[in-house]
Amino acid sequence: VDQTALPALRTTAVTDVDGLVDAIRRLVVRGAPALGVAGALGVALAARTLDGPALDTACDRLAAARPTAVNLAVGVARARAALPGGPDAVLAAALALRDEDIAACHAIGDRGADLLTALCGERPLRLHTHCNAGALACVEWGTALGVVRSLHARGRVAHVVADETRPLLQGSRITAVELAAIGVAHHVVVDGAGASVIARGLVDAVVVGADRIAADGDVANKIGTYPLALAAARAGIPFVVAAPESTVDPATPDGAHIEIEERAADEVCDGPAWNPAFDVTPHDLVTAIVTERRVW
Ligand code: MRU
Repeated sequence: VDQTALPALRTTAVTDVDGLVDAIRRLVVRGAPALGVAGALGVALAARTLDGPALDTACDRLAAARPTAVNLAVGVARARAALPGGPDAVLAAALALRDEDIAACHAIGDRGADLLTALCGERPLRLHTHCNAGALACVEWGTALGVVRSLHARGRVAHVVADETRPLLQGSRITAVELAAIGVAHHVVVDGAGASVIARGLVDAVVVGADRIAADGDVANKIGTYPLALAAARAGIPFVVAAPESTVDPATPDGAHIEIEERAADEVCDGPAWNPAFDVTPHDLVTAIVTERRVW
């Protein structure tokens, strides 16, 4: 699915590494877990046509196509480790990663639903999310939206607030479409409204995904996440991060060491613009991080 075209459904075929690097940079495929699987499949593609230094260069280019979402480099490294076994072994490694991502998202959804019920009580919840951490950002189910889906399956979602997510509108173009497809009541708000919706008492909990989680629990996610964490802390409601273990990067000690992707100014406006794609929420503002293995 070409995610730049959503809500229009357009599919695209990627047949070489150049095409995949371009698709990743343009957000045709996006979302940390989906990037991990795409990167791994990219190595499988490269392994069929390249070898030697050209194959190494292709893997390096894939891993570096976007810098903040650590899953991309993790996915490339996973598939790359299988290169000595030949192209079929690389493809098998990539497909295993895909299957692990599906299982992880379902586990995160259930664990996150349990946690939010424990934190907020056994009633339908008003949830707030940012960007898109749903099925399209993963392989299926989703991370933050996986939690919403699992709660919805239990009849425990009253309403979801989805920030529209400037500048590329992943919230209004993708999250809102996913929520509509599964029949969850929701409204899109402009990003500037997010904190005040929380301050007005209209939200019970915030649940977001992550692109990289540092060893100390600092969380990088789509720009505009940090203000929600500040607002949630001020309002005394939970701010929960849902992500697979593959998003946790022990090699990054804290948020200050996470590279923040700077995107082109013309995504924002025709004039000069500063376009950081992610922000970092310090761990003291995070109520809990939910992975497929633990809550921390
Ligand atoms: O720039 P994007 O659209 O790739 O940013 C995506 C996000 O910030 C998501 O919240 C994150 O990758 C988690 S996806 C399960």
